[in-house]
Amino acid sequence: MAAVDSFHLLYREVARTCHNHVEFLAVVGALYTAKKGLCILYDCYSLMRLHVTLCLHSRRDLVQQYGEWAVVTGATNSIGRAYAEELAKCGMNIILICNKRQELHSMSEAIAGNYGVNTSFIDVDLSRGQEVYLAVKEALRDLDIGILVNHAGVYDEFPESLVEAAEDKVWEILHVNVAAAVVMAHLVVPGMVQKKRGAVVNVISGSIGKSDAQTAASRAYVETFSRQLGCEVSSSGVFVQCLTPLCVGGKRPSSCGFLPLFAPSPDVYARHAVRTLGASTRTTGYWAHALQLLACRWIPGWLCRSVGRLSQQ
Ligand SMILES: NC(=O)c1ccc[n+]([C@@H]2O[C@H](COP(=O)([O-])OP(=O)(O)OC[C@H]3O[C@@H](n4cnc5c(N)ncnc54)[C@H](OP(=O)(O)O)[C@@H]3O)[C@@H](O)[C@H]2O)c1
Repeated sequence: MAAVDSFHLLYREVARTCHNHVEFLAVVGALYTAKKGLCILYDCYSLMRLHVTLCLHSRRDLVQQYGEWAVVTGATNSIGRAYAEELAKCGMNIILICNKRQELHSMSEAIAGNYGVNTSFIDVDLSRGQEVYLAVKEALRDLDIGILVNHAGVYDEFPESLVEAAEDKVWEILHVNVAAAVVMAHLVVPGMVQKKRGAVVNVISGSIGKSDAQTAASRAYVETFSRQLGCEVSSSGVFVQCLTPLCVGGKRPSSCGFLPLFAPSPDVYARHAVRTLGASTRTTGYWAHALQLLACRWIPGWLCRSVGRLSQQ
């Protein structure tokens, strides 16, 4: 082997013995660059299709497309409340589900008065598990349920690790974040399949920020559940969407960052999200959130995390 005493000599030596490899590596590099380029183009196209093209369309007739009634769990707060109102604006009758009777009552009256639709509510504590669904089943019997929105969820701004969390809290997360979405779908999807139309929207957080193991796992469960359920029922005309918003203004301003653009009000968010119904099986539902995710995918992770930390200070 030749003595190596300079980079130039080493380079010449390597190039002489490996010139085929260099060409091979150049082709690999070109293919990799082309693949990345195509992915960026596809991501931009998807973003435009979902958040620009759909905005140009006039409001759809959701009653005709999916059915007369929409059921919204966790309907008294933030995205759930705004989503219910948005569906009412589209002429759907609304059934609100939550555990605060007084709020349900006033919200139900407000929606009926403001949008001229029929409303009703079911006051149940979803953290109690199986026993509460008998009442829900009774209330939904014989109704033409077109859309189910699973928004009920428990979320802690200061999450406790599994080691620190009380057992009751762990059960609450399992019952409200996981079981409620599955059991509610089990109650209404068979009717949708029979009528060959309907939609299920499962709302989970799209944020990968601080979270405890049990809450993070509940998100993963609902995401997989949505995907698989979609595969099972799509041929029957039932659409399943997993909605993964990032920060929505109102309740948790501290985790939303400094740019209001990235934390729309629940009403603005719901208006955008409803437009994506039927068009994407998994979406953030809002263009600025989609942009945020896109940026996170294409810029280095450390830069993304630093900007996120900075924005929360
Ligand atoms: N808001 C956001 O910024 C945001 C962003 C991304 C994702 N999300 C997702 O949206 C979902 C809800 O989060 P959120 O922050 O919007 O919470 P939220 O404002 O507290 O809404 C949760 C809803 O679920 C209801 N709920 C909670 N426990 C219940 C129980 N045991 N029985 C019946 N209803 C119950 C709440 O009713 P009460 O308040 O009456 O208990 C409330 O209406 C979560 O999956 C979260 O990951 C929210």
